[in-house]
Amino acid sequence: MNNSELHELIIRHYKEKLKPKPFVPGRDVIRYAGRVFDEEELLKLVEASLDFWLTEGRFAEEFSEKIAEFLDIANVVLTNSGSSSNLLALTALTSRKLGDRRLLPGDEVISVAAGFPATVTPIIQNGMVPVFVDVDLGTYNIDVDMLESAVSPKTKAVFIAHTLGNPFDIDRVAAVCKTHGLWLLEDNCDAFGSKYKGGYTGTFGDIATISFYPAHHITTGEGGAVVTAREELARIIRSLRDWGRDCYCAGGENNTCGKRFSQQFGTLPFGYDHKYVYSEIGYNLKMTDMQAAIGSAQMDKLESFCARRRDNFRRYIEIFTPYEEHFMLPEATAGSDPAWFSFIVTVRGGAPFTRDELVKHMNEALIETRYLFAGNITRQPLFDGVGYRVAGALDNTDFIMQNTFFLGTYPGLTGEMLDYIGETLKAFMNRYR
Ligand SMILES: Cc1ncc(COP(=O)(O)O)c(C=O)c1O
Repeated sequence: MNNSELHELIIRHYKEKLKPKPFVPGRDVIRYAGRVFDEEELLKLVEASLDFWLTEGRFAEEFSEKIAEFLDIANVVLTNSGSSSNLLALTALTSRKLGDRRLLPGDEVISVAAGFPATVTPIIQNGMVPVFVDVDLGTYNIDVDMLESAVSPKTKAVFIAHTLGNPFDIDRVAAVCKTHGLWLLEDNCDAFGSKYKGGYTGTFGDIATISFYPAHHITTGEGGAVVTAREELARIIRSLRDWGRDCYCAGGENNTCGKRFSQQFGTLPFGYDHKYVYSEIGYNLKMTDMQAAIGSAQMDKLESFCARRRDNFRRYIEIFTPYEEHFMLPEATAGSDPAWFSFIVTVRGGAPFTRDELVKHMNEALIETRYLFAGNITRQPLFDGVGYRVAGALDNTDFIMQNTFFLGTYPGLTGEMLDYIGETLKAFMNRYR
């Protein structure tokens, strides 16, 4: 930004109003997550607002390019949320353009019940049947032995998240998908920056999704992205995101294909304006350029944010290890290097206290905690009257619903905050010595 007076004012505003203040234990709430930013994000946001382009423009292009470069993936489609991204990813597989590989109502899609609803709801929204497989305790990811036996002749896809940033066993899941000809969708919303065998999660499946809600690795407020290496899928995803239109001109452009007025579509008159030809039953789930501007500034910090998350995770391991007798500590999946979304622990059966007692103690000390999202999603009211199948039993999922919680690892946590969390846990555990 060239306007130096404005520039100075923005920096002053950040320092006076928004810069984090020193932490006071017992007075300030320790959030489990939150946006972390400085004047760079504000400067970009103001720059975008002064352009007043509003819809996807130069900042969206910049942001998508940074994501594409980071993940080393060809196609990035920005959206208005991680949930919209998930909806687009699954809906894309229903496109007629995919011929007999297309998903149809009644088809089965395998997922897990211990997760966030937005991974599962697109399956139901598309008239398909979610099939739930149990998860492992420790990694909180799909039990791959059970995945194999969950596959039926109706199964067409696997749609699962890298739970709280911990990659699922990608090699084995991908092998099951290959053997049975299933699509693999990675919900990478909680794992942007996690690695598996040297590659980033979000680059292994047919399609992957990212969320930029403030709890996630970077934020644009609301926002998300769908990524895929496959041009054909990217074209469908873009179309679904943009009202179902067939034309793929960027906003404000005309006639990119060079055939705007010279094609035949359906029973429309020959040469009907390609800009108003619709070949998918679409939505409008686009991001604004102001959001993208924030995202672009956040991308410059992604690596350092992930490093902080890993450091904070290691600190939690130190904090909890002395009490391992009563807690199952999280385990990174073999071959992975998670950019942990959070620190997840399970109170062991037979512990002299319950998860809920400990969570109450932490929250009273102003330390935020969370459960593993929906617990066992099949027990949630949303499933009243909705068809689904459980493959085997969901014993671990039920155990997690009752005994598991997580604490934040986000980069806004300071050493003092983590020390205070350690002392608060110690005070609770001292009751049971
Ligand atoms: C695994 C997972 N998928 C999808 C979402 C949805 O993302 P959003 O909040 O951006 O809609 C979330 C939650 O934020 C999530 O944790």
